[in-house]
Amino acid sequence: MTDTTLTAAPTGSYYGRHIFFCLNDRTNGEDSCAHHNAQAGFDRCKALVKQAGLSGPGQVRVNKAGCLDRCAAGPVAVVYPEAVWYSFVDESDIDEIVESHLKNGQVVERLVTPAHLGR
Ligand code: FES
Repeated sequence: MTDTTLTAAPTGSYYGRHIFFCLNDRTNGEDSCAHHNAQAGFDRCKALVKQAGLSGPGQVRVNKAGCLDRCAAGPVAVVYPEAVWYSFVDESDIDEIVESHLKNGQVVERLVTPAHLGR
């Protein structure tokens, strides 16, 4: 069994963890994360992190991003410093990422983006 408990951020890092959400919205007919409720996921994550008192220096920063080039797995978000990629569907997925990973350092294995999925 793989240990999915993560260690705290490296000493000296301004934020303990960063989570970036792709909010790319293609208007040329091609698919993109914005077409799959990426904004709602971002908004939910930001609100939960703030509500839990996890935001700010030494803690968690929730950021918007453009295309992260893993569109086939979208909507996607990536957490650093662990570089764990997630593909989420709904609010309950975001709730689990916040509670498990951002709060307690436990990777949500069921939501990890399959390694082979890229653009
Ligand atoms: S559109 Fe979201 S990863 Fe490319």
